[in-house]
Amino acid sequence: MESIWSKTWSRKKGPALNGEIQADVAVIGGGMAGILTAWYLKQSGVQVVVLEADRIGGGQTKNTTAKITAQHGLFCSRLIETKGEEVARNYVQANQTAVEAYKRMIREEDIDCDFRESDAYVYSQDEDKIRKEVEAAKILGIHASIENHLEIPVSYAGAVRFPGQAEFHPLKFIGALALQLTIYEDTMVTEIQDHLVKTTCGSVKADKIVIATHFPFINFPGMYFTRMHQERSYVLALSGAGKLNGMYIGNEQGMFSFRQYDQYILLGGRAHRTGENRTGGQYEALKKSAKKMFPESKVSAYWSNQDCVTIDHLPFIGRYAAKHPNWFVATGFQKWGMSLSMVSARLLNDLICGIKNEYAEIFSPSRFSIKEIPGIMKEGGKAVKGLTKRFFQVPDETIASIEPGHGAVADTPQGKVGVYKTETGQIYQVDPICPHLGCELSWNPEENSWDCPCHGSRFDYKGNLLNGPAQRGIR
Ligand code: FES
Repeated sequence: MESIWSKTWSRKKGPALNGEIQADVAVIGGGMAGILTAWYLKQSGVQVVVLEADRIGGGQTKNTTAKITAQHGLFCSRLIETKGEEVARNYVQANQTAVEAYKRMIREEDIDCDFRESDAYVYSQDEDKIRKEVEAAKILGIHASIENHLEIPVSYAGAVRFPGQAEFHPLKFIGALALQLTIYEDTMVTEIQDHLVKTTCGSVKADKIVIATHFPFINFPGMYFTRMHQERSYVLALSGAGKLNGMYIGNEQGMFSFRQYDQYILLGGRAHRTGENRTGGQYEALKKSAKKMFPESKVSAYWSNQDCVTIDHLPFIGRYAAKHPNWFVATGFQKWGMSLSMVSARLLNDLICGIKNEYAEIFSPSRFSIKEIPGIMKEGGKAVKGLTKRFFQVPDETIASIEPGHGAVADTPQGKVGVYKTETGQIYQVDPICPHLGCELSWNPEENSWDCPCHGSRFDYKGNLLNGPAQRGIR
């Protein structure tokens, strides 16, 4: 499984940190949000270093569909309803400004990243929802319109069109920005102590620290795990499927995402909470849908992505926690990582440089509304379920009963063991307890991984860490 972005572009890894250094700002995480934040800070004259555990863009940035858009589903009407017109206007405008910032940056820096302007559409079976969204978007200052004739082979009642959005190759883009930055790769951060960032190969003393690691890995303070979970979704790059001019996403469950890249149509869908893919079959289902929609197509690449979802569906961008005013965070972008990475970079640059930013309040991680209590309870409930399963549920499987090519938590005389049996019968055993906060892991047959239903950490069948917030693998 390799995304079309990784297949079509690569760069030589940069050096790892070696010893102790000082910087004005240390950015932890070399994904889109981290690299853009570092770039803006550098433009502001700040001495900034980026610390990346693996390679830049090697996390979720390489797995995105790379749509740059302020259209985040039917978000305008939903946000006006849940947060009021002012918050909704600020949210949409922050994202539209981000789209324009990409256009300007790519033009001014002359970045070769297969960028093209493109209209964005949300399609739906519900005409009323479409009409309501267009009205809401207009109230918020977006020139949205209703479209009844789309170029995609799906059924719909209509779509909302946002003109002048964009798409690009995300790795080519951050690769170009990286040339201007000081970046240490293969440098995993293990601990932060006030102004000191400790890594596996040295440390950085920094006035300010930005945590841009997709899901924040510091549990306390902040407790982001009480307010976020992660979801997985799947993408196919289809050749021979024709051409699309626009970018599309369906509003209802089971609908798809579409965009063009080069000779491929990128088809996405089948989203579910991480840790809840026990029967698998997501790629097969997506391939079946692709065959139906584009009978002549062939799958040239397929991959999956992981998104952080906050309880109020707005990201957390700003000061990490009151206890550490020199720490900052950017997380919870849902499916809209490209525009929200740019929003984060501009906002964090302003906060760090002491510049007033009109969007600071709506994205503040310390925001809290009484309306969010049910969401916090729901997230807590999922964690309790994961812990309860660990302590009270006896597995149905034994090592002997697991078929070759399958994995499961098995009951053994030593207690529960996570077992994966290869097609040839080789057995891999792990401790099926998540090192983040102790929930029981679930086998993901689609990707041969152990996934945590509580906050979305993932491990390969040998126990190596694939996705945080856990910081280490399992035994
Ligand atoms: Fe939090 Fe597993 S990711 S307990």
